[in-house]
Amino acid sequence: MLSPQFPRPAAGKILGFVLLGLCVLAIGGTVFVQVERQPESSAVSRGARLTEEAGCYACHGRSEEEPRFNLRQTAPDKWRDKNNPSFWEGDITEVKVLVDWITHGVPAADAEDHKKLFIRMPAYRDRLTPGEIEDIAAWILAEGLKLRVDPAAPKAPAPGAPLTPDQLFVAGDALSRRHGCYQCHGELGQGGVANPDSFKGYIPGFQGKDFLKLTANGDRTEILHWIDHGRGKAIESGPLGRIAKKFFDGQAIPMPGYRDHLSVAEKELLADYLLLLNKTGPLPASEIERLNRLLNP
Ligand code: HEC
Ligand code: HEC
Repeated sequence: MLSPQFPRPAAGKILGFVLLGLCVLAIGGTVFVQVERQPESSAVSRGARLTEEAGCYACHGRSEEEPRFNLRQTAPDKWRDKNNPSFWEGDITEVKVLVDWITHGVPAADAEDHKKLFIRMPAYRDRLTPGEIEDIAAWILAEGLKLRVDPAAPKAPAPGAPLTPDQLFVAGDALSRRHGCYQCHGELGQGGVANPDSFKGYIPGFQGKDFLKLTANGDRTEILHWIDHGRGKAIESGPLGRIAKKFFDGQAIPMPGYRDHLSVAEKELLADYLLLLNKTGPLPASEIERLNRLLNP
């Protein structure tokens, strides 16, 4: 009886399949890393970048300490020295006023007066989208909180008493301000601070998916571990733990461990606050306007 004869695949063919498999794995791995490294943003972090790119600092400076030269005409042949205001000097706390200035170069009501200036504000209507202008307003409002909010002011909430989200916000905000969390994680925890040689190139905020990935999906114990040690436990012991560890060890700015610098109650409150920020998601300009009133009544 004849057994059916199958041709044996040639060794070359097997090698071909193995190489193809390896290529697919390598490409898949690269795509995976690229996808994972996609930067995350918020209105505040985009606004910070756009303010830079739009050249706003040329005239407004970064603070009141920087030169902001301008002149105002007071009579046909008379000019008086005058500084441009920094973004915070005029104490503008409404999104719509900021948007009006940036969109039109000057609000209609101030247009006549603006003509007396030697250097005038350009209209950004045709250079920035309405969304981008709102992002800049969000950043200006968030950044202004550094000057407006006194982090020592809010009294610690009575222990055990359940807090409304706004009360938690006020208490958590004050703690974060006092202990430098925003300096690294962005104002209001909205991210955007650069960190060379970190996985994504920046320190993640508390508002989005980066936070969830680093805290085992917003696990409270994990957040408390980060606060105590400045390192994540779950992420370093997970399947890609070795890679995570390599980045945590190699990044320019590591997180300090707050173990001995915060009380248990303060750490618990911070964990609640971070979870609230994450649940709220990236803060839009309108919400930052409301928080300005809440934090600075
Ligand atoms: C070429 C110079 C110039 C540039 C660039 C510029 N501005 Fe202005 N801006 C001005 C001048 C001048 C005023 C009016 C100051 C005054 O009336 O005293 C002004 C006013 C403002 C005001 C109102 C400030 C207040 O307190 O009354 C805001 C807000 C503002 N600018 C935001 C921006 C933003 C945001 C950008 C970038 C997108 C920008 N400006 C770019 C010159 C400039
Ligand atoms: C000197 C900078 C610095 C300070 C100050 C700082 N952190 Fe961090 N934090 C980091 C860095 C860097 C990471 C790691 C992020 C990474 O490697 O991707 C991190 C990670 C975290 C994480 C993991 C999730 C996430 O979204 O980043 C939490 C939670 C966290 N920090 C909370 C806090 C809290 C709360 C405070 C204030 C009590 C604080 N941090 C102060 C730099 C800082």
